[in-house]
Amino acid sequence: MKNLLFVVLLPFFVYGDDFISDYEYGGMLYENPRGVSCSKCHGKDAKGELIATYKENGVKKELYGPDITNVTLENMIQSTSSFHDVMPTYSLTNEEIKAIYKYIQTQKKK
Ligand code: HEC
Repeated sequence: MKNLLFVVLLPFFVYGDDFISDYEYGGMLYENPRGVSCSKCHGKDAKGELIATYKENGVKKELYGPDITNVTLENMIQSTSSFHDVMPTYSLTNEEIKAIYKYIQTQKKK
């Protein structure tokens, strides 16, 4: 009985640490890529979020991070590596952006 338990649990000890799915990897990147979280500005589900409200010449303005669930992978690679007024420029690899993209596509279906 003791031996059986060992055999059953062995894979968890061996693969436990680095055995994460693409989905988990994408989620981790989306939450914390290079220290500036996409989800802070685009929302947990990537469907957009109010970032801040401010006044410009006495007029109340709202700053939104747009919905990015329908952005193509090509656009996402382009957006994350180019300069914007609000959004930071990331130097993520194409593989990392692909993981984020896949994560967002999976979130969308929930
Ligand atoms: C500080 C807030 C902020 C963070 C952090 C941020 N974004 Fe953005 N993002 C924006 C805003 C605001 C826009 C709209 C364009 C602009 O003004 O910068 C935008 C635009 C985009 C667009 C283009 C949307 C379109 O319709 O073409 C994509 C794609 C995108 N962001 C993806 C990401 C990803 C992926 C991350 C994380 C790696 C991220 N953003 C992090 C604020 C942010």
